[in-house]
Amino acid sequence: MRIDASTLDRQASHELLKGCVSPRPIAWISTLSAGGVANAAPYSCFTFVALVPPMVCFSVEPRPDGSKKDTLRNVEFTGDFVVNLVPEELAKAMNATAENFPPEVSEIAKAGLTAAASEKVQAPRIAESPVNLECRLARIVEVGSNSLVIGELLLVHVRDDLYRDGTIDVARLRPVARLAGNEYCRLGEMFELDRPWLREVK
Ligand SMILES: Cc1cc2nc3c(=O)[nH]c(=O)nc-3n(C[C@H](O)[C@H](O)[C@H](O)COP(=O)(O)O)c2cc1C
Repeated sequence: MRIDASTLDRQASHELLKGCVSPRPIAWISTLSAGGVANAAPYSCFTFVALVPPMVCFSVEPRPDGSKKDTLRNVEFTGDFVVNLVPEELAKAMNATAENFPPEVSEIAKAGLTAAASEKVQAPRIAESPVNLECRLARIVEVGSNSLVIGELLLVHVRDDLYRDGTIDVARLRPVARLAGNEYCRLGEMFELDRPWLREVK
């Protein structure tokens, strides 16, 4: 099977890419609107992109009618956002916040969640999420049909039991990840691989 990428329309491109780039971590992005409404939505087109300073990015598609999603509008307005991680027990709540509510409706409240004040940014944190990354907008890059939002990490909130050896205890956090279609996955069996070239230089 060979697929000529130039034949793919938006939907076909989305489905193929979701399958090729799987599993994807989910950034549950919380923002504040110009009207003061706490907004949240999941974005699985998400990764970190720099270490010094630490930076993360996520990519926002336009809505089918071409309009901007609330998250993008809000990030442009306040210049900041929060990435909340999604453990298994919050998967359904995360999914509920993906509904396309009008901007005056808070997905956080609709999903029965709590918006907590952040320390360094105007965007609220989702209190129920055990890891929150407070980010300041660095830049928005228009990439094809999408807007790539790049943010500098300013402050990380980690529930104490999830912080181990300078990082997140992922086995304990049990984050869910997105696959193709509407499929998700849990953390499976974990294993380690030594890097031989690193062992040699020690
Ligand atoms: C698990 C999951 C991942 C998603 N990832 C993205 C994404 O990376 N980019 C995007 O534009 N929309 C993505 N969506 C769709 C948005 O969450 C959805 O359009 C939402 O209504 C946007 O809300 P907003 O207008 O409040 O920003 C995703 C949805 C789900 C359920």
